[in-house]
Amino acid sequence: MQKNLLLAGRRKFLQQAAAGTLGLLSISGSGKSVFGQSGTVTTGFPGSINELLPSGDAVKPEMYFHPGAPRNAEPMLPKLVESWITPVPQFYIRSHGLNPKIDMANYRLSIEGLVDRPVTLTLQELTDRFAAASCTCTLTCAGNRRNEFSRIKPVGGVQWREGAIGNAEWAGVRLSEVLKAAGIQTGARHVWFDGLDEVRDGDKTFPFGGSVPLTKVFEEPEGSVGALLATHMNGQPLTMDHGMPLRSIVPGYIGARSVKWLGKIVVSDRPSPNHFVDDVYKILEADTPIQRDEAIPVYRYPVNSAICSSVRPEGGGEVLQLRGYALSTGTAGTGISRVELLANNMKSWQPAVLDKEDQPFCWRLWSASVNVNARTSSIMVRATDSDGHQQPLNIPWNPKGYLYNAWHRISVPRA
Ligand code: MTE
Repeated sequence: MQKNLLLAGRRKFLQQAAAGTLGLLSISGSGKSVFGQSGTVTTGFPGSINELLPSGDAVKPEMYFHPGAPRNAEPMLPKLVESWITPVPQFYIRSHGLNPKIDMANYRLSIEGLVDRPVTLTLQELTDRFAAASCTCTLTCAGNRRNEFSRIKPVGGVQWREGAIGNAEWAGVRLSEVLKAAGIQTGARHVWFDGLDEVRDGDKTFPFGGSVPLTKVFEEPEGSVGALLATHMNGQPLTMDHGMPLRSIVPGYIGARSVKWLGKIVVSDRPSPNHFVDDVYKILEADTPIQRDEAIPVYRYPVNSAICSSVRPEGGGEVLQLRGYALSTGTAGTGISRVELLANNMKSWQPAVLDKEDQPFCWRLWSASVNVNARTSSIMVRATDSDGHQQPLNIPWNPKGYLYNAWHRISVPRA
């Protein structure tokens, strides 16, 4: 029923969009471009508020820290698309509570629930007992591009721009192997992850938690893994901000299912009752108790893309060089098949050139040269994946501001 309601809402929204009654409000002015002078022109942030919390990693001047605690940061967009693998210092940080203080001498991971042999492992035991495994995949926050929803109607939470996304090589052990060793019992359907952080909500304090279907854990798509228990990111031990010493990594799923500072895994017949599965990270029309109970948790992310840098050649030429990212839906076997750009004064979409690196569950970087003239005031991008999913012109507003994936637009002030 909930699904039908949402579909009906989306249909109505699209009809209105097609009839022009909504205008282009939701895509206007996204990305802050500074096109005033010739030379390098960037789509970035006006400034950066860096905060160093006691248990956090070092200050990262190249990141924009959203105001207040805990640490939530995203990179400057032109930097983000300089390399297919996102360097750790430029990888977005999304934390709902303060980084926990973990005493490594006493760190243990427990595996319990519907298993024959519940077990508690040190990090050493985990990596000694199970074969090393790795996967490269993109992590993206469900709230990426939330600020564009807020232009339609304000949404609470971190006002993410287009940078709550990054692509990294994760290494550790396969979750499927660990669960097989623990002996999965009949009736098991879901796997819960509990972090060691403490998130405060009013007078309550609880750990951040995630949940994934067991079938996802055992999916072994070519060139990737179902889910990883990761100790390393880009060849280095995880940093504190990214979940040291252990986190789950679930390729294809929103970042919220990749739980940092992992302390407990529970095998169950149902999804986790944790607040971040049961109440948060759901697409609602209105944030009411009944809608929260009716809606299912969000798992996979939708097709998306963004323009991250735009350069006008020296001398203010008529060509704008653009660069950005595109991500197919988090479904095994899909990839980006095309990325297209449309300037407001162009009649047809122009294809971008896709970078060579193309792996399952990874973003595809792209570049394009677009002719502009005095009448060009904006450029839009949209991506299509190999399953035919295409970014929509607009998407219905939702109260939590999740999964914004409408065409991304930057403005092009006069040269
Ligand atoms: N895990 C814990 N324990 N606590 C958190 O707040 N945030 C989640 C996820 N795992 C979170 C967590 C969310 S919403 C995202 S998008 C990713 O971590 C972000 O991972 P990163 O900070 O390494 O980029």
